[in-house]
Amino acid sequence: MSPPTTPGAPRIRSPPRAELGITASVTELRLALPVDLPAYDGVLLRGFDERDVDMVMNLATDPYLPQIGSLPGNADADQAREYIARQWSRLSQGAGYSFCVADARTGTALGTAGLWLVGGLDTGRAHVGYSVAPRSRGQGVAGRALTALVGFAWTIPELHRLEAYIEPWNIGSIGTAEIGGFQREGLLRSHQPIGGRRVDMVLYAKLRPEPS
Ligand SMILES: CC(C)(COP(=O)(O)OP(=O)(O)OC[C@H]1O[C@@H](n2cnc3c(N)ncnc32)[C@H](O)[C@@H]1OP(=O)(O)O)[C@@H](O)C(=O)NCCC(=O)NCCS
Repeated sequence: MSPPTTPGAPRIRSPPRAELGITASVTELRLALPVDLPAYDGVLLRGFDERDVDMVMNLATDPYLPQIGSLPGNADADQAREYIARQWSRLSQGAGYSFCVADARTGTALGTAGLWLVGGLDTGRAHVGYSVAPRSRGQGVAGRALTALVGFAWTIPELHRLEAYIEPWNIGSIGTAEIGGFQREGLLRSHQPIGGRRVDMVLYAKLRPEPS
């Protein structure tokens, strides 16, 4: 069934789900969402679609998120649709997997979870990112979404190390990383610009478990 659309709204491209297809070379990397969508404890990671516009608009009321991603602050419905379209383009560009975090029972969107292949698969490393719509926070959504994302990451044989870069004040994100089994590795001083100034980042990382 194709997702519902709003008359006159920009169409959101929703490619069919396909076999996890990674064809990697130095110059080209094509990605597809997995057929078996990652899930954990009532939370499902799926592709974005039109029904997620309202959740994205709620996300855009967070003052921090627009500083660390492409979502405009207080996005309107069209800007939310453009954001959703950009998430699909991440796959086609080989940048990584951008999932909508949803309630596994109802499909209702709750947030976002991304696995970013910074530097390409050859590095064996990926970055994780996550956000939960303000109205759905404080219920363990991010921790469960990250657990599902990590499980998905280990289905990609090339990956051996996952990293999360977190501002030291962001205790919700630090708590999420710890729930996901990430370990603190250190403080990266003056690591990157956010909100017009250079900020420190705490590096959290998780390694692929050794086969038992
Ligand atoms: C960080 C964020 C994803 C947490 O989402 P959430 O669904 O509310 O998180 P959870 O309910 O799964 O909580 C994860 C842990 O952090 C703790 N936590 C979450 N928010 C917290 C807060 N505001 N203050 C203190 N602790 C908090 C929880 O108590 C939990 O730890 P616990 O199980 O030991 O109690 C959410 O606040 C968010 O989207 N923030 C803006 C985007 C962002 O910062 N993303 C991360 C960038 S690195």
